[in-house]
Amino acid sequence: MASDAETLLTLSGVGKSFGGTVALQGIDLAVQTGRVHAFVGENGAGKSTLGKLIVGVHEPSAGAITLDNTPVHFASPAQALERGLVAISQELSLMPQRSVLDNIALGREMTRGPFVDDRATRAHVQALMDRHDMQIALDARVGDLSVVERQKVEILRALGRDARLIVFDEPTARLPSDQVAPLLALVRSLAAAGKAVIYVSHFLDEILEVSDTVTILRNGEHIRTGPTARETRETLVEGVTGRVLGDQYPDIAPPDRAAAPVLSVTGLARRGVFSDVSFDIRPGEVLGLAGLVGSGRSEIARAILGADPAEGDIRLNGALAGASIADRLAGGIAMIPESRRDDGLMMGRPIFENVALPHLRQLSGALGLNRRQERDEVTRACAATEMKYAALDDPAEALSGGNQQKILFARAAMGDPVLLIADEPTRGVDVGAKQSIYNQIATLAASGKAVLLISSEIEEIMGLCHRVLVVSRGRIVGELADTALTENALMTAAFSGT
Ligand SMILES: Nc1ncnc2c1ncn2[C@@H]1O[C@H](COP(=O)(O)OP(=O)(O)OP(=O)(O)O)[C@@H](O)[C@H]1O
Ligand SMILES: [Mg+2]
Repeated sequence: MASDAETLLTLSGVGKSFGGTVALQGIDLAVQTGRVHAFVGENGAGKSTLGKLIVGVHEPSAGAITLDNTPVHFASPAQALERGLVAISQELSLMPQRSVLDNIALGREMTRGPFVDDRATRAHVQALMDRHDMQIALDARVGDLSVVERQKVEILRALGRDARLIVFDEPTARLPSDQVAPLLALVRSLAAAGKAVIYVSHFLDEILEVSDTVTILRNGEHIRTGPTARETRETLVEGVTGRVLGDQYPDIAPPDRAAAPVLSVTGLARRGVFSDVSFDIRPGEVLGLAGLVGSGRSEIARAILGADPAEGDIRLNGALAGASIADRLAGGIAMIPESRRDDGLMMGRPIFENVALPHLRQLSGALGLNRRQERDEVTRACAATEMKYAALDDPAEALSGGNQQKILFARAAMGDPVLLIADEPTRGVDVGAKQSIYNQIATLAASGKAVLLISSEIEEIMGLCHRVLVVSRGRIVGELADTALTENALMTAAFSGT
């Protein structure tokens, strides 16, 4: 740990409201150079908002921020960036069509007279990469890069602008599990190089490993700030939720193996993506689909939903399923997609619509059935996920990231599906809410529904599934259940085809 930490930034009495919603109040905090400072808290606690106040995305409604002991007011991220404060965004904000070089250098090109000096700019960016030991092909198109590489481009862009403080908001939420350790090492190296780093995450193990200081937020209030060395997983959970959580995973009774399958998949294939996929799921069964990111798990799920074309046989309760998504939804399949922004939510539309939309026809079936009942059902579905929101008519984008994820769960569970496909259902969700999502999965299974669970968190797969299929390179390479279902066996199978 760097010993020469100095206070870079302070917040005193900082508050932020959005209309009637108080996102933060009375926050007093100091951020130091050469340190990793973690923010933890439940969904909607105010972590992202606090980060956004620091980097000029939002302006405080109350209180003061000082930088180098001088008060500052940022009206835009550009102004904060001028002073070296920058965020690596939760939803990455690069220009996908442009090259790595352009993305890092844009607005900072070297010039000769009035002209951009391409060679000097290249050399400058290359030197930056060398200095921080992060190499990415300068001419690669950013849209073709992996999530990890894109993150590196964002970090390099920040460093190229002399960043002094970098905010990471859930940087590992979208990372394949084998990329987490390298990212944490990178975060440490930034602190070692004297940067102040703010690190927001729901992964408590990451917080314990990477941070020097931790701040706990609850309902927009500052609970405590102190050295990470004094915290444990248990103290963090208690600080974040305000209660002691018991066993995280519910007991889910084993399915009746003699029962007829809810879903039967035979010889499912999509050229170049996956092949020879065959399996059954029985009523009450939670079947896991494990494997590395890119192994084909999500693609298989999308084909079962009917979102992508595929060859092969899909039967729902014994009957051949129709080909379209509409047929499959009508047949009782519900899906929580992997990417809430791309496939899942209409960000500008009300929460109510986002939850109810696929169900509206059904609800209003008899005599335009009544709006009151619709709203009651939606309210109940939202409450079951412990979603935190002010009004059902607020747009989805007014919710915190984890609460947006819960919209998708509420929508899927409300339709009373026979098969729920859940692709990373707890991504970005806090510990308490994770538990409520797990309980909902257990409730669905107990009522005879089938659940197909895709997750990159091995613990989650182990904690919830009766049986697990391991996918590697588009093929099912292993099936694990009962005593054979161990973390070790899972990892070995997942890496076997690579
Ligand atoms: N642009 C906005 N308009 C209205 N309300 C907002 C906006 N941004 C955040 N909020 C509200 O402020 C509160 C804090 O949200 P924030 O995004 O900071 O939470 P978070 O701690 O980052 O949660 P998560 O873990 O889910 O990402 C929430 O109640 C949220 O609904
Ligand atoms: Mg957030």
